[in-house]
Amino acid sequence: MISSGSNSATSNSTTRRRGSWRSRIAFYLLAVGSACGLGNIWRFPYVVGENGGGAFILVYLFLSLTIGLSVLIAELIIGRSTGASLLKITRKISVQTKKPFFWFGRLSLFISLVILAYYSVISGWVLHFLTQFLVGLFHQEQSQYLGSISMSVLMENGLLQFALASVHLLICGFIVVKGVTERFERILTAVLPIFGILVILILTRSLSLPSSPDVLRFLFYPDFSKLNLTSLGHAMGHVLFTLSLGMGVLVTFGSYFKQDEHLPTLGVRVALVDTLISIVAVLMIFPIAFSISNKPLTDPSLLFEALPKLFMKIQYGQYFGLAFFICLWLAALNASIALLETLISNLSDRFLKTDRFSSAWIVIAVTLFLTVFPAFSGTLFRNLTLMNQSLIENLDSVLINYLLPVSVLGMIVVFFKSMNEMDYKEKFVSEQSESSQMLVKNWIWVLKWLAPGLIILGIVLQLAAVIKNSLLK
Ligand code: PHE
Repeated sequence: MISSGSNSATSNSTTRRRGSWRSRIAFYLLAVGSACGLGNIWRFPYVVGENGGGAFILVYLFLSLTIGLSVLIAELIIGRSTGASLLKITRKISVQTKKPFFWFGRLSLFISLVILAYYSVISGWVLHFLTQFLVGLFHQEQSQYLGSISMSVLMENGLLQFALASVHLLICGFIVVKGVTERFERILTAVLPIFGILVILILTRSLSLPSSPDVLRFLFYPDFSKLNLTSLGHAMGHVLFTLSLGMGVLVTFGSYFKQDEHLPTLGVRVALVDTLISIVAVLMIFPIAFSISNKPLTDPSLLFEALPKLFMKIQYGQYFGLAFFICLWLAALNASIALLETLISNLSDRFLKTDRFSSAWIVIAVTLFLTVFPAFSGTLFRNLTLMNQSLIENLDSVLINYLLPVSVLGMIVVFFKSMNEMDYKEKFVSEQSESSQMLVKNWIWVLKWLAPGLIILGIVLQLAAVIKNSLLK
């Protein structure tokens, strides 16, 4: 077993000092900020559209509040009690058990690297809209200009997507390398409440559109006939992605927490807020998509096609649009920084025997290279399709719906191998929280049985769908 505080791989390689969190509120906002991002606002709405609405949302809610929450708490506990990075923990377990558990560590870092590249491209899309709204402020014919903002310009220009993703990544790199992460976090904690208010305003406007009764029926009236072989896997993948699980991010995050912080309580709050934000996002986007925008609900461009249409219709819409995309980009930046920091702290003490500065730029250079694939998916790699899906769609699906669940299975194994029963029970139960005493057994049951069972079932059903589709052709 890996003992408490035995190891501090992250302590000398990250800029944040453990236990250095400022006020409690800032601390909670950051924990929430690390989970909330493009996954909630951009990805969730079109995944719901793709999977038919209400019934899928029910499956998502169930998985989020059982498996997602349980794994989230487990990752935070692994981080705090070992004080080490995932790569170091898995290597230690491998040495102790003489089994190749280090592959789980490597897999999760590989996923983080590719997800960072993919995430940077989508963050580049946000940057594009941000700059368009900014330029729009100086245009005489504002409404005409705003009306012309669309995704097609981006989709047809791989170089522009690559350039925007590079700018995003370089800004991340600058923040991490210069060690100004804490300053950035201060800005973010100030911006997050503004983002919240903005979202509520947009939500009220959006729900007053004539399409909202239809939307509410679509989202909250579960039609189980819409579920198919891939629904479980898609819901599982999204839950793990949106809660940032399976990538070692929360392990690193957990290692910053003080011993007296009750991690299950924190976990519950993060999971609840994250889930709530996802629901708010669909309520915000769908009424516009149903009434104003004529794009299919299943397209990754859904958010970017729908929201600008609403901003065009409302007074001061260009300011709202600009503020919204600035906030969304900052949230995306925060998520990217979390991924980059995790990658650097994991890799620098294992493979990259260089200083933090050089490790950071090596990681950024590799990520930049990887962004080429999603960025040019619609242009240079247009013909690289598989199962009628573009490269970027296949990348998303393989990473999030298949590899991430496998990595989370690994994380669960790591959890049980790195601590004994008394240890993890003690970390879960708090004297102040009666519910923790009642729930500890359920938590362990979910980690031991429900999570592995449903993760494996989700993957098997998706594979069955792939086989079925290729036989039908
Ligand atoms: N959870 C983030 C989101 O919803 C994505 C993310 C994944 C961030 C992994 C960091 C690490 O956007």
